[in-house]
Amino acid sequence: MKALITGANKGIGFAIAEALGKSGVGILVGARSESHGQEAVKKLSAQGIPASFVKIDLNDFDTIHNAAEEIDQLDLLINNAGIPDSHKADRPDLDTKKTAFDYTTDDLRETLEVNFLGTHEMIRSFLPKLAANGKIVNITIPIQPTNHWHPLAYQTSKAAQNVMAMNYALEFKNTGSSKQIFGVMPGGVATDLNGHTAGAMDGYIKSAEEAGEFIAQLALDTENHNGQMIQHDGKIVTDYEAQIHG
Ligand SMILES: NC(=O)c1ccc[n+]([C@@H]2O[C@H](COP(=O)([O-])OP(=O)(O)OC[C@H]3O[C@@H](n4cnc5c(N)ncnc54)[C@H](OP(=O)(O)O)[C@@H]3O)[C@@H](O)[C@H]2O)c1
Repeated sequence: MKALITGANKGIGFAIAEALGKSGVGILVGARSESHGQEAVKKLSAQGIPASFVKIDLNDFDTIHNAAEEIDQLDLLINNAGIPDSHKADRPDLDTKKTAFDYTTDDLRETLEVNFLGTHEMIRSFLPKLAANGKIVNITIPIQPTNHWHPLAYQTSKAAQNVMAMNYALEFKNTGSSKQIFGVMPGGVATDLNGHTAGAMDGYIKSAEEAGEFIAQLALDTENHNGQMIQHDGKIVTDYEAQIHG
């Protein structure tokens, strides 16, 4: 089996690569930085995991198209790369104190470009390369604003990504395809994305390794997850189910 994981150079993406690799899956390390991607390849190879680097920058569609041309067939496409907000030098990546009033339209555009449009381009470009029973797994988040959790740009971009996944799932079902697309919401995971402070949020903090294992198990099991949004405790977010499993 072969898996392409975007943003696999660090954080949850690297942990998914390790967990899938230990189960015998060959890993294509998608990363926008060649040096960081090659470092990850070295670390995986040192553990006996077959891995190679593929340049994928969600802001540069040429890298996505070039990668899709080079790759013959994929069993798993893991859309993991993502940003919580537009990156500004004067504030952390994920500032949970910001309110809707603090976001500019540019913040939303920059975040949507990576998490939604970049991921959409990945799915469109790699679908022809996906094995007949291949799976697309999006790493995502809950989109209901609460007082603890209301990052407008991040939630909006992932909401769009989730709707896209549901639409593809519906088409897979309607055309009798054995392909699957689903989302996994790993909950709070201590990574660079949140300055390793996710523990402050809601108490279900995981390490990247725990999240990677959880996601890899779902990617490899024999269940039909098409159209599901699966949260950190394994429960399915039923709001999304709509027509897919009806
Ligand atoms: N951490 C959490 O609590 C949590 C919870 C739920 C869902 N998630 C989701 O999990 C995914 C991974 O997050 P993480 O926590 O592991 O964060 P992370 O450690 O910051 O890793 C993010 C990865 O995405 C890559 N990336 C960012 N922008 C990119 C672009 N334009 N093109 C290609 N790659 C890009 C980064 O590459 P560089 O190293 O080059 O920046 C990095 O490899 C994200 O989609 C996030 O929304 C995270």
